[in-house]
Amino acid sequence: MAGSALWFFLLLAAALAGRATALWPWPQYIQTSDLRYPIFPHNFQFQYHVSSAAQPGCSVLDEAFQRYRDLLFGSDFWHRPDPAEKQHTLEINSLVIHVATPGCDQLPSLESAENYTLTINDEQNFLFSETVWGALRGLETFSQLVWRSPEGTFFINKTEIEDFPRFPHRGLLLDTSRHYLPLSSILNTLDVMAYSKFNVFHWHMVDDPSFPYESFTFPELTRKGSYNPATHIYTAQDVKEVIEYARLRGIRVLVEFDTPGHTQSWGPGAPGLLTPCYSGSQPSGTFGPVNPILNSTYEFMSTFFLEVSSVFPDFYLHLGGDEVDFSCWKSNPDIQDFMKKKGFGNDFKKLESFYIQTLLDIVSAYGKGYVVWQEVFDNKVKVPLSRRLW
Ligand SMILES: *[C@@H]1O[C@H](CO)[C@@H](O)[C@H](O)[C@H]1NC(C)=O
Ligand SMILES: *[C@@H]1O[C@H](CO)[C@@H](O)[C@H](O)[C@H]1NC(C)=O
Ligand SMILES: *[C@@H]1O[C@H](CO)[C@@H](O)[C@H](O)[C@H]1NC(C)=O
Repeated sequence: MAGSALWFFLLLAAALAGRATALWPWPQYIQTSDLRYPIFPHNFQFQYHVSSAAQPGCSVLDEAFQRYRDLLFGSDFWHRPDPAEKQHTLEINSLVIHVATPGCDQLPSLESAENYTLTINDEQNFLFSETVWGALRGLETFSQLVWRSPEGTFFINKTEIEDFPRFPHRGLLLDTSRHYLPLSSILNTLDVMAYSKFNVFHWHMVDDPSFPYESFTFPELTRKGSYNPATHIYTAQDVKEVIEYARLRGIRVLVEFDTPGHTQSWGPGAPGLLTPCYSGSQPSGTFGPVNPILNSTYEFMSTFFLEVSSVFPDFYLHLGGDEVDFSCWKSNPDIQDFMKKKGFGNDFKKLESFYIQTLLDIVSAYGKGYVVWQEVFDNKVKVPLSRRLW
């Protein structure tokens, strides 16, 4: 998947290369001209402004400079300027970066400022941003502005850009349960996201078909619920690597553990967690959504989400809540009794609400915000708003 996405972008880039300005996404404000400045890779460098809050040693930008150097100039034999060519043109030999506030070791968040201004003219080649995340967006834009003549010389035109994202959350979801994706595919996807200035990797980690997340509190979940516990899992080290790779590109990792539905793969490794379905008066041997009437369910979720809260540093967790099939709950006599006791009548949405509400309380107590699918709202679950969003 990531491979084909990468090809798509390369083709898109090739198609756009013939046009005047090939920028994606389009900046909020842009002015370009036909005045072009050559860039000679041997002489060019990214440079921190003396009074920038970020200085050499800032991992996010040091690594970005290296990445964009490689992206821009590759390892081709570069066209060496002949002296005559150099004499007559104003050459660009650096891009100076000024970041206003420190934060190289932090994580991007929903509130991170990503705006920047980029100025390329006779006087200066300057990228100014509030944060390192804004600087990353500006570097991406800079890299897209550089073009190459048929003779092989790199150029950038006189340009003025002021840019900020229209949406603070620009997400891409990958489902690693229905189809296990090797770590390298996830990392490639993060690269492609950075090229398009996406900033949230929504990791739909587990679902009915498989449970690839290796939990250290419940290792049986992957042992019994993954496609292959030796090869088709994400270890703690893998998860760390994804989070850091994403951070260096200004991308948040929003993990989703979807419950109470979409949980078949949890069953084998967590006996008693899923609802036994009945056929008439007998258990049929199959299982439905998470069993919402047992205290043990909530004890399990408390322990599991305590781990998840510490492994995934983003403020938000995605808790799913979509497409709960009520037929198994309806068939189970213990659930019917519980419904009666609670006064839920035959309204299984109320039972679902009871589950979700309890789960939200658990996760809030860990200082986390949450995201759920729209059905949770449609089913009129009382969802207290996470504090940082509104
Ligand atoms: C850059 O300038 C050249 C001429 O120097 C012009 O042909 C080209 O269209 C310009 N590109 C942009 C993006 O303005
Ligand atoms: C970014 O936006 C903030 C708030 O609107 C503003 O104060 C700041 O000057 C902007 N910075 C850049 C580089 O545009
Ligand atoms: C479940 O927990 C509730 C509240 O703590 C308690 O009242 C109830 O007796 C418990 N039920 C069982 C079956 O342990």
